[in-house]
Amino acid sequence: MATDRMQYHRIQYQGVRKSMELYARACELIPGGTQLISRRPTRFAYGVSPVYATKGKGARIWDVDGNEYIDWVSGIGAIILGYCDPVVDEAVREQLANGTIYSINHELEIELAEELVNRIPCAEMVRYAKGGGEACMIAARIARGATGRDKILFCGYHGWHDWYLAANLSADASLDQHLFPGIEPIGVPKSLEGTAIPFPYGDLDALGQTLDAHRGEVAAVMMEPFRSEYPPEGYLAGVAKLVHEHGAVLIFDEVSTGFRPTASGSQPLVGVTPDMAVFAKSISNGYPMGAVVGRRDVMEAANEMFISSTYWSDTIGLRAALTTLREVSIRDIPTTVKGTGEQLKKRLNDVAADVGLDVTCEGLDFHPHLNFAVEDPSVKAKVGTLFVQEMAKRGCHGYTSFYLNAAQGDAELDQTVAATRETFEIIAQGLDDDSIDTLLACEARTDSFRRLVR
Ligand SMILES: Cc1ncc(COP(=O)(O)O)c(C=O)c1O
Repeated sequence: MATDRMQYHRIQYQGVRKSMELYARACELIPGGTQLISRRPTRFAYGVSPVYATKGKGARIWDVDGNEYIDWVSGIGAIILGYCDPVVDEAVREQLANGTIYSINHELEIELAEELVNRIPCAEMVRYAKGGGEACMIAARIARGATGRDKILFCGYHGWHDWYLAANLSADASLDQHLFPGIEPIGVPKSLEGTAIPFPYGDLDALGQTLDAHRGEVAAVMMEPFRSEYPPEGYLAGVAKLVHEHGAVLIFDEVSTGFRPTASGSQPLVGVTPDMAVFAKSISNGYPMGAVVGRRDVMEAANEMFISSTYWSDTIGLRAALTTLREVSIRDIPTTVKGTGEQLKKRLNDVAADVGLDVTCEGLDFHPHLNFAVEDPSVKAKVGTLFVQEMAKRGCHGYTSFYLNAAQGDAELDQTVAATRETFEIIAQGLDDDSIDTLLACEARTDSFRRLVR
């Protein structure tokens, strides 16, 4: 289709020389190069994808080399309304004029708690944090305090803290099943070994057996309710039943799914109410904020516990979260991102059929992903990297998945479909004449960590 050609690309890609120079400087000064593993350039097409941004607006970001991209990663999920949302930013500016933190508290703390209690099924009481991993740590502490038990069973990614990385201390064969293959839990006290135990998603028998094996010792089962596919029918209800039979606390980590499934998070969609839930990222459209919510009798244990930090109630995060949540409802963002995702999936699947490439765009509407039908895992990794590389050159930044926000509209869809058509053609050709290696300008992406959930 001629209209699918790259007429929508607004600025010609000029390479990422400055980005790479900055990254070299960063690596001299910052261990690991970046603060977040998902922002490491090796996670994208190294030397082709942008590494440093100068600004973002709506659905787009600009890099230090002057390139413009549609950002299909949405600030690693934090951006739900779009970059620089005028309503949220105005509310934050108003708040800034009155100061960000004080020596005493601000009413916003209570207003946001009421907002969360009103919208999230399991929420009766609320604590705050500044990010997802921190909120998970708080939830783990409260669950341990509430039950007087130490062990936590988990499924999914829950941040960087000791309680969670302790899972990798175990030297048994299940190490491969952990979330961080190849990443050693260096610096995590060995005495925590055996306190964090993973279980596979979707397998009730496995969860039941693990609970039985640690009967009377499990404080909590923390899990992402789903990530890239909806849960199998009855699975989460089965999880809740098992967890409660064992007297443990069920915690949904909704940091990644956030407020895209519904304006109240995942619970109304899956029809299961956990005992606690954790939110961050999309709760505040890019301002640092996190929340731990839960049933009164569980949360009240925190009355007696030392859980305390200066910035947790800063008014910028509170104001941003309150405004974002209200805007998510007012603008019915879940319906918008669902619609965009449905269109994206349909149009990319049409392009794949047209080009004759064996790839499908599937999964959650608000977070679809590409599945290239390539058997050899090393070739598959290269194909994925080639996709990221060619899309970057065509003004689309991302992985082989798409994290949606409400600012992505028709122009973004048109440009992305056009870019994908050309990229699929290149990949099809590369697979056909075995020239993927030649087409790649970089090493295959490194999979720094993988998820246990689907
Ligand atoms: C499900 C889940 N939990 C926790 C985290 C950690 O959040 P943060 O990076 O804000 O600490 C993430 C981040 O990707 C996540 O996806």
